Amino acid sequence: MLRVASLPGDGIGPEVCDAAVRVLGALPVDVTVEEHSFGGRAIHEDGDPLPAETLAACRAADAVLLGAVGLPEFDGAPVRPEQGLIRLRGELDVYANLRPAKRDGVDLLIVRELVGGLYFGASGRRADGSAFDTCEYSPHEIERVARRAFELARGRNAFVTSVDKANVLETSRLWREVVSGLAGDYPDVRLEHMLVDNAGLQLVLDPAQFDVILTENTFGDILSDVAAGSCGGLGVAASASLGDRGPGIFEPVHGTAPDIAGQGKANPAGAILSIALLLDELGQPAAARAIEGAVTGVLDDGARTPDLGGTATTDEVAEEISESLAISMPTTS
Ligand code: IPM
Ligand code: MG
Repeated sequence: MLRVASLPGDGIGPEVCDAAVRVLGALPVDVTVEEHSFGGRAIHEDGDPLPAETLAACRAADAVLLGAVGLPEFDGAPVRPEQGLIRLRGELDVYANLRPAKRDGVDLLIVRELVGGLYFGASGRRADGSAFDTCEYSPHEIERVARRAFELARGRNAFVTSVDKANVLETSRLWREVVSGLAGDYPDVRLEHMLVDNAGLQLVLDPAQFDVILTENTFGDILSDVAAGSCGGLGVAASASLGDRGPGIFEPVHGTAPDIAGQGKANPAGAILSIALLLDELGQPAAARAIEGAVTGVLDDGARTPDLGGTATTDEVAEEISESLAISMPTTS
């Protein structure tokens, strides 16, 4: 029995999580899903975006399914929903964030460092009115995520593009040194370094040139939206955040989209494809491939939400995907 902790969060998070759980339920996989308070909702209920009970439930689960966090009402507030997400990533030490992007001729995987850099450095305000955020990386933090990227590349096209800003930043020069130093352990994988501004341009002009893109936390945040934009849209982008042990976090790349929340307009594909990543990680590759096939089939010829030019609702898309799964995986095991 697989135990999934579901953290729907804010905005369209609950709608897309419901859709993803519905699809999970249509598979012949023995799984229980338990929902927990998180994000803005948890701030309203407990004053904390990551209540202790939620964190304990995540630690005890096999995997965490996450919707999205963040709402305009918390802009500038001292306690914000995003802090819960960043703390959860740190607590579970999910240092490798995998963000695949696929479309005709393009099949790339961004491996984003997730528990270091600017997101976790010292920050604050000074008496003179200025503000600061600091970016720090240790060789160990770089090495573990880089090894993950090299290993993942071995199961793909054996090509890693490490993205940094080594012409300006000291952390980027260390990044490049550490990654280059590991290359000898992976002689079968081609390694290239690229500056982040150029990587953004290349992702727009010619995303097919990439296989695995390895980068630090902030650059990965930005580049994964760019990659999603040039490969089918943010609505279909999925992600897995993994550590060395313990549960991973599986979440769509998109945010809370407060402008369309509660209207049934959200595209559930990113959340549903995150379930495929979850099943892969928990040793259920057949179910994962079935989900990917069903999502592709429905997005190509069936129901589509408004972001993809259709008129279908979130539930209708989830329903079609579930039905097509029942056809492709008819027997229960
Ligand atoms: C993402 C999101 C988060 C991030 C926010 C919500 C904190 O943009 O997962 O890409 O910046 O990591
Ligand atoms: Mg982001």
